[in-house]
Amino acid sequence: MKHVFNKGKDPKKPTLLLLHGTGGNELDLLPLAERIDDQASVLSVRGNISENGMPRFFKRLAEGVFDEEDLIYRTNELNQFLNDAAKDYSFDRNNMIAVGYSNGANIAASLLFHEQDALKGAILHHPMVPRRGIILPDLTGKAIFIAAGTNDPICSSEESTELQSLFRNANANVKLHWENSGHQLTHAEVASASEWYRSLNFKE
Ligand code: MLT
Repeated sequence: MKHVFNKGKDPKKPTLLLLHGTGGNELDLLPLAERIDDQASVLSVRGNISENGMPRFFKRLAEGVFDEEDLIYRTNELNQFLNDAAKDYSFDRNNMIAVGYSNGANIAASLLFHEQDALKGAILHHPMVPRRGIILPDLTGKAIFIAAGTNDPICSSEESTELQSLFRNANANVKLHWENSGHQLTHAEVASASEWYRSLNFKE
């Protein structure tokens, strides 16, 4: 997959996996990684799907309606890519925190839903419930921050709360942060996510 990797100064820190929103690319979220942890390695990936020229991580049938078969296929593809990248760049595969926005947050949530060991934690900006009706793996020890907007036209408040419950019921440690805003990524939620990350003192 197309990506950038920037090696961090502190190898004990998690590798931050950056996943952009629809129409974005691997450069978009680099400033967020700087805000969250400027000592950590960063792997930022571009989604393999092109929707009318807009990169995405999986296909959709309509806005907010996911192509589940493709979602499952692309989730596995991304996980395999992460396994290979860990070998190529010599980072600890078991110490990775995803930072995703919108479509990127949805594929990060899907990694947590389908692959128990894919991530140690995740910062999800405006995620949706990626799939319903499946049993999640045991997510004990995983730390998840969700930023949601009270007026998000793409993801209702109920859906954000539902996602929180699904992760909690799978034993993850989840913080749901609300912004009085829509689907956009705000400076305030990035500041809250950074504060949350620092409070957990992530190390190897
Ligand atoms: C999705 O398709 O992942 C969601 O609708 C969010 C987005 O617009 O990317």
